[in-house]
Amino acid sequence: MTRVVPSTVQVRRATRPLSGTVEVPSDKSLSHRAVLFGALAEGVTHASGVLDSADVRSTIEAVSALGAVVTVAAGRRGLDVTVEGWGPRGPVAPDGPIDCGNSGTTVRLLAGILAGWPLSVELRGDASLSARPMGRIAHPLVAMGAQVITTDGHLPVTIAGGVLRPIDYASPVASAQVKSAVLLAGLRAQGRTSVTEPTLSRDHTERLLPAFGVDVLVAHDACRASVEGPAVLSATDVTVPADPSSAAFPVIAALLVRGSEVHLPGVCVNPTRTGFLRVLERMGADVHEARRRSVGGEPVADLVARHGAALRPVTVNASEVPALVDEVPILAVAACMAEGVSRFEGVGELRVKESDRLEATVYALSALGAEVRAGEDWLEVRGPARLRGAQLSSLGDHRLAMAWAVAGLAAEGITTIEGFDAVCVSYPGFLDDLAALGADL
Ligand code: S3P
Repeated sequence: MTRVVPSTVQVRRATRPLSGTVEVPSDKSLSHRAVLFGALAEGVTHASGVLDSADVRSTIEAVSALGAVVTVAAGRRGLDVTVEGWGPRGPVAPDGPIDCGNSGTTVRLLAGILAGWPLSVELRGDASLSARPMGRIAHPLVAMGAQVITTDGHLPVTIAGGVLRPIDYASPVASAQVKSAVLLAGLRAQGRTSVTEPTLSRDHTERLLPAFGVDVLVAHDACRASVEGPAVLSATDVTVPADPSSAAFPVIAALLVRGSEVHLPGVCVNPTRTGFLRVLERMGADVHEARRRSVGGEPVADLVARHGAALRPVTVNASEVPALVDEVPILAVAACMAEGVSRFEGVGELRVKESDRLEATVYALSALGAEVRAGEDWLEVRGPARLRGAQLSSLGDHRLAMAWAVAGLAAEGITTIEGFDAVCVSYPGFLDDLAALGADL
């Protein structure tokens, strides 16, 4: 990555409309999976449009340390990546611990992959990742027969894999990372491995495994997915569309700044990811999808977001949260502009993301002058707020850095964001894209 992103950024209130087209970066969840599944597969996988960000680089380095041969070149959009997988030979023992950086998807999916091989591998991460719960993957993988030694339920984690038994796992959390870890381990067990979740989480693993020649049985109504093991993946070609979670920031920026119109081509609109669009629609926002099509088994559309009528407050139910789990802080920014109380129910999972995003949202939006409260698993915003610029920190969390920058466009005066370079985790070009739309930074 060549882009230099400043660690402190100042955002001024937008005095003119945001307008233009933003090619938001490629989907992070799909980029991880394209590289990881390519590493498991026999043959050479070509993945185009892979996200060029710190998180995906962690996955590329991890699979390379385990014996996959990866080449990376700049593509028209993101990276063109080839992965020569280890296939049925399996991964090789790495030279030392594998550093997963800030990436929960890397560490949790890799744990599931390693569970089925006779190696002992230590997985580590940065301070944020080391504070996140790993018991949620250790528990089912141990039940399948792997040895998973955590550090009080956290990283570092050592996985000593081996012969696995299939499992019918009722996950207590709706988490695509947990579901994927168990299904990937299930590929090495003899028989059917199933995962049932309380609410359906993003289903990229279920959609992408068939492209690698592995059948996945899905019962979406029952929030259940199963694989039949043992199964070996076959290399394939994958194209990664743009990331809806990254698109949420320019979309909501357009809704907050008078006269704006922003176009975002080729965004993944998988319904397990686009809960934020449904919520914005209930708020009365002018956001439209055009040219719906399919790219690599994922629905894709061009989005157009326009500033329009005043936003209405909204209630988000717990069952909607998995489909917008990464978008709650930026939706809370939008809720500041709606007249009345917006409430997000069942958002406790936000406390164990890259930061405690509930506490962080209360801290930052209160500092900007909004009325915000949170409980253990709910968040409430009373609008409309008259936001005033403030000195904020990203707390090292990429999505917070971007949410505070968008709030700054609607705040009087100057909003300063420290630790802004956290955006490199998922959207290194965010600042350039905002500036290209006309924001004053
Ligand atoms: C992800 C799943 C979500 C999400 C994360 C990426 C994935 O986490 O928050 O940004 O790629 O599977 P959980 O599965 O823990 O909710």
